[in-house]
Amino acid sequence: MDVRFKNLSPHTGVEVEGVDLRRPLAPDLRDALNQAFIEGSVLVIRDQDLDPHQLLAAARQFGQVFPQHNTRFQLKECPEIHYISNQDTYADGRRYIPGEGYHTDHSNAARPPKATVLHAKELPSKGGDTQFVNMGLAYERLPADLRAKLDGLMAEHVYQSSHSARKLVGLTAKRKDEIEQSVTHPLVRTHDETGRKALYINPIRIERISGMANADALPLLDQLLEHAVQTAHEYRHVWRPGDFVMWDNRNLLHKANGDYDIAERRYLYRLMLAGEAPA
Ligand code: SIN
Repeated sequence: MDVRFKNLSPHTGVEVEGVDLRRPLAPDLRDALNQAFIEGSVLVIRDQDLDPHQLLAAARQFGQVFPQHNTRFQLKECPEIHYISNQDTYADGRRYIPGEGYHTDHSNAARPPKATVLHAKELPSKGGDTQFVNMGLAYERLPADLRAKLDGLMAEHVYQSSHSARKLVGLTAKRKDEIEQSVTHPLVRTHDETGRKALYINPIRIERISGMANADALPLLDQLLEHAVQTAHEYRHVWRPGDFVMWDNRNLLHKANGDYDIAERRYLYRLMLAGEAPA
């Protein structure tokens, strides 16, 4: 097969065509895809048509599955795979758009997932893009005095920050007991495969900066977020049916957009891959 790689922006995103993920990857192709994922942070493999078990087998070639905290969105026929859908509602009946608002996945875990994978099954005719911002680039472009101020700062992450505008769907009592209640991670993490530093903030999960009053910490977090989400740091993914997209949570924030005709179904399979403790 003729495999083609193309950069999707100057800093983030690599598109791959000519790969069939229904079959095991040859080791050199697997390594090339993994390298493109590490360097590009978002790996987009086009034109796949995978059932949940095929998706699971494909993703396992890049790491071990990380169990999602909220089990409500599990597929019955393959519980390691969850779904993203615009058809679910909050308990009060309002429509739930999963992933709205910039975040990084499951940073309330001591070892948050290194990667998240989505596979597009049904898409609206337009809109519903996923936006990614490159937090390594954002960190490098901070003024030197601000970078120095961040050095050594730790933040406390919880399942649902009391400061978050976005409310998550609640956990079952069993899952609440099973997951960590709160963890601390550095505000700047060093990528365990590239050695590159990146801002590690998460508006839906950070409760406080250790040793800093909220009156100082919350404006600092807002300032960092505003800097990070500039379009100069962004790759915006316009979905095509069949896309297999794997992104690197160690170097990105991402967000979903509910900016389309909600009568049109948007449905994707989702899983995450285990990572190391941020350092
Ligand atoms: C997510 O945050 O995992 C969902 C992203 C999307 O649906 O675009």
